[in-house]
Amino acid sequence: MGASWKMVDEGWGRKAVDFATLSEPGNVREYVTLHQHLRVGDGDRLLDVACGAGLAIELAVARGASCAGIDASARLVAVARDRTPSADVRVGDMQALPWDDGSFDVATSFRGIWRTTPSALAELHRVLVPGGRLGLTVWGHIKKSPGAWALAPFRLATSAKVDNQAAMVSLGRPGVGEEVLAGAGFVDVRRVSVPFAWEFADPETFARALASTGPAYEAIQNVGEAAFFEAATRRARELVRDGLPLRATLDVVGYLARKPS
Ligand SMILES: C[S@@+](CC[C@H](N)C(=O)[O-])C[C@H]1O[C@@H](n2cnc3c(N)ncnc32)[C@H](O)[C@@H]1O
Repeated sequence: MGASWKMVDEGWGRKAVDFATLSEPGNVREYVTLHQHLRVGDGDRLLDVACGAGLAIELAVARGASCAGIDASARLVAVARDRTPSADVRVGDMQALPWDDGSFDVATSFRGIWRTTPSALAELHRVLVPGGRLGLTVWGHIKKSPGAWALAPFRLATSAKVDNQAAMVSLGRPGVGEEVLAGAGFVDVRRVSVPFAWEFADPETFARALASTGPAYEAIQNVGEAAFFEAATRRARELVRDGLPLRATLDVVGYLARKPS
């Protein structure tokens, strides 16, 4: 990605408060599940890469870990620091981590590492201790997910951007993540199922939450904010259920692995 990581905040940071309060809390099922698989607990030194607004860090601290995090968005990092002042959360590039070799027992990344960013895995391998545990999540088979409608507005971006989004998420395809992780030197690579469901109070809240993300910014740059909101709310209105939240269940793949001892 080179210095292009410095542009990330333009999209991901521009609605940092909306992201932290309306979008990120919907990811909580995946955070809890991966932390449980990794047995995150007392005394663990944990690094969360592409940590966003740091909710996963807050939850890892609640389990007894001492945490660090990194994200390219300064405005998301500001929220993460506010949430967990004890954590060492830095603005930077996951492909050039500013920590020494062997600094962490556990490393996580929640939909932050992609097929297009293989050097981030080499960096995670470097900063883990021998025997250190790795847990990643990536989008799985979105088109087959009942909640595919919730990500459909991202396709309003230019076709070049949509193609790049597809290349990024290909890490979740059967066999791909396993091969990439083994290539980066990890062992005991295991694919686990990760529950993931976004819930929203109404179509307008859904559109606002989605608009706070980086891929939404790519769509908004292409079609404008009004068209993005119109497309997002139109489909969501058809799915409103009396007395129940709008719910988008999405396929998310988890990978567990270990750095050799
Ligand atoms: C899909 S979001 C995931 C955020 C968070 N992990 C979560 O669960 O909500 C992707 C994140 O990657 C960050 N990001 C993108 N490129 C990055 C890079 N090169 N280095 C560090 N963070 C990056 C974005 O700022 C954004 O917070």
